[in-house]
Formats: sequence, C-alpha cells, structure tokens
Amino acid sequence: MRKSILLLLLFVVSIQVHAQEQSKGSPRIIILATGGTIAGSGESATKAAYTAGKVPIDDLLNAVPQIHNYGKISGEQIASIGSQDMNIATWLKLTKRINEIFAKDEADAVVVTHGTDTQEETAYFLDLTVMSDKPVVIVGAMRPSTAMSQDGNRNLLDAIVVAADPKSVGKGVLVAMNEKVFDARDVTKTSTTDLETFKSKNFGPVGLIYDGKVQYYYQSLRSPLKKFDVTKLNSLPQVEIIYGYADANPNSVYCVTNSGPKGVVYAGMGNGNFNAPVGKALAEAAKKGIIVCRSGRAGSGRITLDNEVKDAELGFVVSDDLNPQKARVLLMLSLTETSNRAKIQQNFFDY
Ligand code: SIN
Repeated sequence: MRKSILLLLLFVVSIQVHAQEQSKGSPRIIILATGGTIAGSGESATKAAYTAGKVPIDDLLNAVPQIHNYGKISGEQIASIGSQDMNIATWLKLTKRINEIFAKDEADAVVVTHGTDTQEETAYFLDLTVMSDKPVVIVGAMRPSTAMSQDGNRNLLDAIVVAADPKSVGKGVLVAMNEKVFDARDVTKTSTTDLETFKSKNFGPVGLIYDGKVQYYYQSLRSPLKKFDVTKLNSLPQVEIIYGYADANPNSVYCVTNSGPKGVVYAGMGNGNFNAPVGKALAEAAKKGIIVCRSGRAGSGRITLDNEVKDAELGFVVSDDLNPQKARVLLMLSLTETSNRAKIQQNFFDY
C-alpha cells in the first residue's frame, strides 16, 4: 500500500517537472487579435485600398507556420476592428483577459495584434493595467495581409520571438514593429504610410530583432511598479484632448470643457504653450475642478512645470514627456483613483 502511494507521488511529481520543463523550452503564448491592417484584406496586391480587421486570427496564424517553432501558440479573437475604432470597452476587455490568462497560468506570454493607428495608446494602457511581469507584446502592420511585400507576417513572427524570450520578462508592455522593440510608454506612430513608422522620439528602441532573435540594449525606468486596478471598472472618466495652434479661438476650449469632462489634455505649442484667450479658458476650467494637463504637439521633449507657464497659479499639471494621446490614458486612469491635482501631477512624474 505504502509502496503504491509512493509510486503515485513520484508519478505526479514527474508529470509536474515534465510540464515545467516543457513550458521552459516551449513557452505557451496566446495571441489576442483585435483587427487592424495586420488583419486587413484588399482586392489587389498592388493597390493601397483595403479593409482593416477582416482576416480572422486562425488565418493569420496559419499564414506564419514558423511561429510554432517558438512555443505553443494559440489564438483568440477579442475584436475585429480598425484601431481608429478602438475604445475603452475593448481596452478593458483586453486587459481583463490578459490579467485572467496570467492569473490562471494559461500562458507564459501574450501577443496582441492591433491596428497601428492607436497601437501606442493601447500599449500604454496595457502597460499601466496588466498586473504581471510576463511578456505582453503588441504588433501590427502597415500593409494588409493581401498586399505584395506585406509586413504583417514578419512582424507577427518577430512579436512571437520577443514574447518567447525570457529576457522579455519584466520589461513592461513592448511593441514589436519592423525589426525593432519599443517601450510602450515611449513609442509613437510617426508616419501615415511608411513601414518605418514606429519610433521612440526621446529615447530610441529598447531592442532589435534579427534572424529570429531579440537583442536588448535599454530598459525604461518608468515602467510602472504600481498598476491601476481596473478589475471592477466598465468605463473610465471622460478626458478630452484640445489642440493648440496660432490664433486659436478659445471657443474650442469652452466647447469641450462645457461637455462635462473630468479632465482635458491641452496639446500646446512648444513647451505646452497657449495664447492668452485659450490660457484664460483653460484656467477657468481648472478653477471649476477639471484637471487640465499641458502636453505638447511638438512630438518629443518634455513639458516643464512652472517654467514658461505659471502652472501652480493657474491650476495646471504637466504631462512630462508623454504625448497628448498617452497623457490622456494616464489622466483617465489617475482619475479612477483620485482627483487631487498634486497626486495626479506626481503620477505624471512617476509613471
Ligand atoms: C488601423 O489602425 O486599424 C488601421 C491602420 C493600420 O493598422 O495600420
């Protein structure tokens, strides 16, 4: 009797060890598909017209059988949209599913396929809300899957390479595009149609992918240690973006601030600057309790606190080096926890 219990125990332990060994050598990777040009389909291989988000995940995976050399790959369809239609409901669905995958130990890494237009916003949202240090890699394509010289298959394979690599653990959410790896916080889309569109204007890519391998060179210190818990949320506080330009009419500010937002991000000129009437309208909004965050339209650099603009006096916060669309993401999430201006400003320096 004792002997058979011992044998049974040995059997169970050996199965566990075997499973661990297997997952070490062959990571389990789930691909969550959301649509975008990487799943785009056109009638011609040479013409530019196509519809984003048409190709289902199974077809995308079948088109790149080499991905199976890097792990145990499976796919799930989360949405089938062009990323211009990405929305907060889908962000919440996506991050809740990723958190569930890691909490239930369903996978060692997740890859998200996504349209490139709002890829950077989704990447940063996930960076702030995924409660695991396991790799999450977002990938897209500039040319639809039916195009001549399409980039999606290569990008997908590269994303799997990044997700499968143990060196990708603890690096926050990563974006794999065009043989480069970017930090979610810093990366931005810089060109409407170029393949080489993703750049980290302030700091450059964190790694390079070549010949089925990823090599890392840098790691951001700003990947958040503390995350926002969105488990119980079905929506986020309303935050709008207002664009700055020469001779801007303050009506654009009033129009937005009278629509009931909890926060606004101002994409100002240079170091987040505004003309006098716009500044007055923004200060009035801050006085009413709307969190006004100065960001910039220049595309790189920081917005500095209390230098050119008297932020303390006017009641503004600054985005540090976040561009307006990412400042909006952090402001929405910050507002789920606090409406204290000083705490929110600190978040912009910490996250
Ligand atoms: C989209 O963002 O869904 C369309 C553009 C693209 O994926 O490149």
